[in-house]
Amino acid sequence: MTTDAIQRLAHRATVRKFTDRKVDDELLNTLLEVAAKAPNTGNMQQYSVIVTRSEEGKQRVAPAHFNQPAATGCDVLLTFCVDFNRFEHWCRVNDARPGYNNLQAFLWGVIDTVIFAQQFNTLAELSGLGCCYLGTTTYNAPAISAALELPDRVVPVVTLAVGYPAEEPTESDRLPIESIVHREKYQPSTDAGIRDTYYEKENLAESRRFVEENNKQTLAQVYTDVRYPRDTNEHFSKVYADFIASKGFC
Ligand SMILES: Cc1cc2nc3c(=O)[nH]c(=O)nc-3n(C[C@H](O)[C@H](O)[C@H](O)COP(=O)(O)O)c2cc1C
Repeated sequence: MTTDAIQRLAHRATVRKFTDRKVDDELLNTLLEVAAKAPNTGNMQQYSVIVTRSEEGKQRVAPAHFNQPAATGCDVLLTFCVDFNRFEHWCRVNDARPGYNNLQAFLWGVIDTVIFAQQFNTLAELSGLGCCYLGTTTYNAPAISAALELPDRVVPVVTLAVGYPAEEPTESDRLPIESIVHREKYQPSTDAGIRDTYYEKENLAESRRFVEENNKQTLAQVYTDVRYPRDTNEHFSKVYADFIASKGFC
């Protein structure tokens, strides 16, 4: 990778507002084709991507993303799915008996799907496009599946909203890299160490505002009680677990 590309990735940020400029079909196809060169389990490519460009298509799927502005305002929505349908079909017409109705196979699919999606994200950002992941994909997978007519053995995992940026988003913080990288073996943190690790994040103006606006004592409570609370997590876990079971996984 060139130094220029590294510098640009070092300062990348999620884009949530897009201009009306259309993403050229040829560029989109090239980025998808190159992204598919990403590593994947056994080179089986157990993933698919649904490209939604039409207004009707976006309107059909956007409610499942709670009509987030990135979903309604982007040029292209890409829904990346675990796809065993294609591979197992190939097995069936070749007298081969697939044994992929299990967690291990689902994990291959999820890992490969996400690598493919992120490879696309990186290529798109380096090409001047803006992208926003929509985590609502795993919340409302049944509705997304219905809107996109996903068949048996196909499960949506992540969605990317893509378009030309209409904003210069502020770069978001990251934890100090030493707290993430463990040399030779895992180095557990002390209480003082963990406070140091999160010190900068806790003291960002935005974090302080979150704490105040939500009437919480700490930023950690904003995450546990407001942004990602247990009851919501458990509800959507059950929805997704039932859904993947209905698609013939685990
Ligand atoms: C799996 C995943 C789901 C996400 N879901 C959403 C989402 O639903 N809406 C949104 O605005 N951003 C979403 N994001 C973007 C994150 O909020 C963003 O990447 C994070 O805050 C770091 O900011 P940055 O990408 O600008 O560095 C998601 C990112 C990932 C990887």
